[in-house]
Amino acid sequence: MAAAVNVALVDGDGLAAFGQAVPRGPERAHLARVVVRPDARGRGLGRALVEVVLARAAAAGFRRVTLYVCSDNVVATRLYTRLGFVRADPPPEDPPLPDVWFMQRSAGRQDGRT
Ligand SMILES: CC(C)(COP(=O)(O)OP(=O)(O)OC[C@H]1O[C@@H](n2cnc3c(N)ncnc32)[C@H](O)[C@@H]1OP(=O)(O)O)[C@@H](O)C(=O)NCCC(=O)NCCS
Repeated sequence: MAAAVNVALVDGDGLAAFGQAVPRGPERAHLARVVVRPDARGRGLGRALVEVVLARAAAAGFRRVTLYVCSDNVVATRLYTRLGFVRADPPPEDPPLPDVWFMQRSAGRQDGRT
């Protein structure tokens, strides 16, 4: 199975954003620990970070990326929805959590290009 994907973005002030995708079987990676430094938020770094994680997950052979997000996290739910994640029922090994959305999308590009 492929290793976890870890992505860190750095700016002039140091570590600006971090996120990872952890293997959950041979085809699925689970996005976790997505965070942008507070003073760097709202400039597109969150979107850029997740796009890099998705591209690297696809390159590592994962077909699908899933995540949990608190339903009241307006910024994060918007970010993931704009990136093409859709709500889904979690698989048996990932139990449903109260007030938390389970979301998924393909790891590769969604516009048909490679
Ligand atoms: C969620 C988080 C990673 C987003 O990072 P970010 O760099 O601020 O996000 P971006 O600048 O790329 O913006 C992503 C989307 O959210 C929107 N957004 C950004 N700040 C917003 C705000 N304060 N209110 C509403 N929407 C906002 C942007 O407009 C963008 O949507 P758009 O493409 O429709 O314009 C960041 O806010 C964060 O670290 N939050 C704390 C940790 C967390 O909640 N992590 C997610 C756990 S699942």
